[in-house]
Amino acid sequence: WPVFAPYIHAINRLKKERGAVILAHNYQTPEIFHCVADIKGDSLQLARDATRVDAEIIVQCGVHFMAETSKLLNPQKTVLIPDGLAGCSLSESITGADVRALKARYPGVPVVTYVNTSADVKAETDICCTSSNAVAVVDSLQSDTVLCIPDEYLAMNVAKKTNKKILTWKGHCEVHERFTADELLEYKAADPSIEIVAHPECHPSVLAVSDYAGSTSGMIDYVKTRRPGRVLLVTECSMASNIQAEVPDVNFVKPCNLCPHMKRITLPKILDSLLFMTEEVLVDPAIADRARLAVERMVNLKQ
Ligand code: 13P
Ligand code: SF4
Repeated sequence: WPVFAPYIHAINRLKKERGAVILAHNYQTPEIFHCVADIKGDSLQLARDATRVDAEIIVQCGVHFMAETSKLLNPQKTVLIPDGLAGCSLSESITGADVRALKARYPGVPVVTYVNTSADVKAETDICCTSSNAVAVVDSLQSDTVLCIPDEYLAMNVAKKTNKKILTWKGHCEVHERFTADELLEYKAADPSIEIVAHPECHPSVLAVSDYAGSTSGMIDYVKTRRPGRVLLVTECSMASNIQAEVPDVNFVKPCNLCPHMKRITLPKILDSLLFMTEEVLVDPAIADRARLAVERMVNLKQ
């Protein structure tokens, strides 16, 4: 990618000078994922790795809740996000006040919050979860009923794998809610050999016609291990691009959808972030300790 080369060179040089580390989610574009990122993964891996970072500066290439999670786990470090407007439809679907109202309505019911939420929401929560550990987190709680918020579809998918009663919220991922079982069945009808690999933020009817469902890293591992001839990744577009070089024998079939929030992060913005130390992510001290506890409980959960 000659057009990216000057940025990649400048970012990697400045990163060393500043003593910074770049964390990138699996949905980042290939030039970020392969050329400047130091640590890559799904939300749980990034949260876990954020607890082991030595560098004083963390540049989070992902969306705002991910940067906030890194800041919660590294309160003494400087956490930067190259575009502070990189949000998430799930995170924006619920507020701390909403969770307080839910707790008043369902007193004593433990609250599991998806990491795709603001620190304000996490602060009202007993424990966080991600797509890769949601069932284990729910099952770890000593209660027959659990509030699993804000992703309605993730909660419905968890409900199928636990004996507990799951209450939820009407939040959806704007990328994954667009996929339908009917469109996937059309692909299967045209070529029954296609494997369908879906993210649990999709509607349960989508998972019902899928060969595998798991977190973004779970999906990557599935493809790398099974090497399907043709595969449809029911998730964000960059995932296929990021792993194509490692699995040249796999043919990735579209459709895929873009996450406009993840795509706000670009090489020029990462360079600016390192040059000008922007945008620094701060968490209100009044909520930080309680929000950190919820994330730490998840990170420390034995699985
Ligand atoms: P993962 O935890 O599976 O990486 O998912 C994060 C996300 O935002 C998916 O839309
Ligand atoms: Fe949020 Fe969906 Fe984008 Fe993930 S893909 S960051 S859940 S809007």
